[in-house]
Amino acid sequence: MTETVYQPHRPRAAAVLSLIGNTPLVPLVFQDEGVTIHAKCEFLNPSGSIKDRLAKTVLVDAEQRGLLTPDSIILECSSGNTGIALSMLGAAMGYRVSILMSEGASVERRHLIRQLGAELILFQSEGRYQTGIDMSREMAAKDSRYFLPRQFENELNVADHEHTTGQEILRQLGQPVAAFVTGYGTGGTLAGIGKALKAHDPATKVYAMEPAEAALLAGECPCCHMIEGVADGFLPPLLQGAPLDGEVKVSSRDAMAMTKRLHREFGLLVGTSSGANVTAALQLARELGPDRRVVTLLCDRAERYFSTALFAHE
Ligand SMILES: Cc1ncc(COP(=O)(O)O)c(C=O)c1O
Repeated sequence: MTETVYQPHRPRAAAVLSLIGNTPLVPLVFQDEGVTIHAKCEFLNPSGSIKDRLAKTVLVDAEQRGLLTPDSIILECSSGNTGIALSMLGAAMGYRVSILMSEGASVERRHLIRQLGAELILFQSEGRYQTGIDMSREMAAKDSRYFLPRQFENELNVADHEHTTGQEILRQLGQPVAAFVTGYGTGGTLAGIGKALKAHDPATKVYAMEPAEAALLAGECPCCHMIEGVADGFLPPLLQGAPLDGEVKVSSRDAMAMTKRLHREFGLLVGTSSGANVTAALQLARELGPDRRVVTLLCDRAERYFSTALFAHE
């Protein structure tokens, strides 16, 4: 099959677009525990998170289908990483970007979005994501220049992880995946990679990592947790299509402790959800035994969390 090579409308966008995806899959050897976890390094994407993949897929698709014009404004509600990814690509592809963000999101995220030339609209966070989603819909209804990527309902979010991230894992590991575990925000990553791995080998188990304080899939009520980027108090629609075998609960405290271990024992400067994912993966690997491979994701970079409890040095 011949693949058509996509040419962005602005040739300069090709540079940053080419840096997205094909991240390394590395073994994390936990000698004391006698366990190795296979971790996909999504924090190495150019804006520093897994969300670069979603931004690329949705914007390239929109540009190819003529949905973006020179006066378009890309508008999305985001807790940060998607907003940063869209701002980065908007800058390179030549589109204005407006990001609706809860006042509670870390200040580093605001700086990055503004530095990339995007507009930031902050809203009070009591209504959580739904407030921002409703605002974006109202704004788009009044002004046809707005283009909404709709990360929470866009099927491209799932399809991209199924056809790229999931295939990369299969190719890079080259051996059976016993289990895959990661957290969910929109659910796109979990549903897409889960589908790819199950289609390749139905014996692969797929688990959702959930903050112990907000384990909705496990039937518990949402509460405050400190694992930014995941489980924001509701079950996202895209998660309904995820082929889940179960969930693994991780407390904010354990997530934070593991994230610091990743910094100080592995030299990997990743964010709190990465520590949570690795904690869940370690638990599964211990249960499954030494010869079974467990895969997880390192979703974003530590630099995004300077102002949070992760960097509150004792
Ligand atoms: C920081 C961060 N961003 C994004 C994601 C993935 O989110 P989504 O479910 O929207 O694909 C995760 C998942 O663990 C995450 O930790």
